[in-house]
Amino acid sequence: MGDQKQAPLNGASNGTSIPPPKHGRRSGRGSRCGCCCLLKFLLTVIFTVALLIGLFILIVWLIFRPINRVKLHVTDVVLTQFNHTDNILRFNLAANISIRNPNKKIGIHYDRIEAKAFYVDQRFGYQALTPFYQGHKNTSVLNVVFKGQQPLTLQGEDLTQFNQEKTSGLYSIALELSMRIRFKVGKVKTVRFRPKMDCDDLKIPLNKSPVAGSNNKCELKF
Ligand SMILES: *[C@@H]1O[C@H](CO)[C@@H](O)[C@H](O)[C@H]1NC(C)=O
Ligand SMILES: *[C@@H]1O[C@H](CO)[C@@H](O)[C@H](O)[C@H]1NC(C)=O
Ligand SMILES: *[C@@H]1O[C@H](CO)[C@@H](O)[C@H](O)[C@H]1NC(C)=O
Repeated sequence: MGDQKQAPLNGASNGTSIPPPKHGRRSGRGSRCGCCCLLKFLLTVIFTVALLIGLFILIVWLIFRPINRVKLHVTDVVLTQFNHTDNILRFNLAANISIRNPNKKIGIHYDRIEAKAFYVDQRFGYQALTPFYQGHKNTSVLNVVFKGQQPLTLQGEDLTQFNQEKTSGLYSIALELSMRIRFKVGKVKTVRFRPKMDCDDLKIPLNKSPVAGSNNKCELKF
């Protein structure tokens, strides 16, 4: 008897349609249940995978929506020196950058903000700003000042561009803010994120206020 009972078990584990002993009472529908169970199993797997994907998308959305909604603008910019002589750049650039946190229930800890200024993809200015906390639905203004001198080699196209811009008095300077932020929702603080804001293609005039309507929006990058 023991041997005979063993046989269906082995059969079941080999994937044939012989029902395992505990389903013995329903042996008449055995083979159809196997098919049905497989279908059920497949549906469960598909459902679970779909649920996990949905959950993942939801989490990503919940995390990135608040970052995406943070808007930066360069509100004021004043360039009083931009002199490139003997491969040394002497510069004096001040800017106000407004950061708006429009999220209703989320505050933002700016644990680290570094402002950088670039000319033809070369960094010439750096400033570490004071960390701060920004409440929900609030706007903060960052005062950025880049002043000093920095070795900067301009060759070929870059030199041509500089000479053209020197003539026009309008310089293509890019600003970048690299940040480390945490969100605060109620009393919960999230992990750190490291978004980067690029304010590209600013055309900054020397010793003049910029023309209204010039591109002053900054874009988020990861
Ligand atoms: C640029 O800097 C050089 C070296 O300091 C100086 O001799 C020159 O006058 C400056 N040019 C302008 C337009 O400020
Ligand atoms: C930035 O804003 C402050 C306060 O409104 C102002 O005093 C300052 O001149 C601004 N900076 C620039 C570069 O315009
Ligand atoms: C925004 O921040 C300023 C300065 O921290 C604060 O005085 C003001 O109450 C805040 N506004 C809101 C709506 O939280």
